[in-house]
Amino acid sequence: MRILGIETSCDETAAAVVEDGSRIISNVVASQIDIHARYGGVVPEVASRQHLLTIIPVINQAMTGFSWQDIDGIAVTFGPGLAGSLLVGVNVAKAIALARKLPFAGVNHLEAHIYANWLDSSPTSERNEIRFPCLCLIVSGGHSDLVMMKGHGRFEKLGRTRDDAAGEAFDKAARILGLGYPGGPAIEQAGSSGSPYLSLPRAWLKDSYDFSFSGLKTALWHLVHKGGVSVADAAASFQLAVSDVLTTKTIEAARQLQAEQISLSGGVAANRVLREQLLANSPLPVLVPPPCLCTDNAAMVAANGYYHFRAGKTNGYDLDVVPSLSLD
Ligand code: KG4
Ligand code: ZN
Repeated sequence: MRILGIETSCDETAAAVVEDGSRIISNVVASQIDIHARYGGVVPEVASRQHLLTIIPVINQAMTGFSWQDIDGIAVTFGPGLAGSLLVGVNVAKAIALARKLPFAGVNHLEAHIYANWLDSSPTSERNEIRFPCLCLIVSGGHSDLVMMKGHGRFEKLGRTRDDAAGEAFDKAARILGLGYPGGPAIEQAGSSGSPYLSLPRAWLKDSYDFSFSGLKTALWHLVHKGGVSVADAAASFQLAVSDVLTTKTIEAARQLQAEQISLSGGVAANRVLREQLLANSPLPVLVPPPCLCTDNAAMVAANGYYHFRAGKTNGYDLDVVPSLSLD
């Protein structure tokens, strides 16, 4: 089954064709980072207008070498995300479905991030085994969610951020350190030449699977404004503090709730320190997509869509966007 995936929830316009939920045939991402970087963050109206300009060329590129008869269905992100951005993808998906008489399915962006773990990342790589219950940590620009996945489409939300999401914390910390946008890659780059010796707080929130990163951000601000610390050391120390909390709480939850495996996903999962720390410390198998499939893409949407179609879950033309969609 070949699915065309469409993703426009934030600042990436993306389209991909994926076979049987795992084999990537094409995967095109047009990033708007350069456009938003001058504002230090995503400007919603600029993002939706840019999606409007880019979506058709991106889909055409993803469809290179195919005819519409080769496609069995269309999957599109309908939430969570920016309303104006989501509307572009959902309306394009409806239009194609109508014109080509194809079924279409609305996909939850957070669920799609998890499915990036079961994509074949290269023609030679083996597909990761799907084992439930799977403890999923989804860390992106808008979410830090700890979720137990009990089966396809079956989720129990365990914890979430009480303030800043992990990616948002990276972006704000980068601003404090005078680094660029997006903050995650900038902090990782700056931190690679630093030493993580500076003492920064970790909010453990014991007896809860929730996260909190705003205290860490404030502590970083005080540290930097006191002076005498290098940007590289501050970046490395901040990154380690975030990674420590995410890793420790995820492994502890997996142990307490007897998960069969752990999956890491979302843009922050591209972070090398976090990936290595989780892989090194988990007694359970850990799935982590390659970095290019952690950040927003449409291959994960198509992969997720495959399981919707397989279960007979399609949507009608009344599908609306849900900017605050969650995972339970
Ligand atoms: O999943 P994503 O691409 O978009 C959302 O769904 O939000 O995540 C974007 C977030 C941004 O906050 C960005 O700073 C962060 O992921 N990010 C990283 C890295 N690459 C992207 N954070 C830490 N280290 C990275 N290498
Ligand atoms: Zn995302």
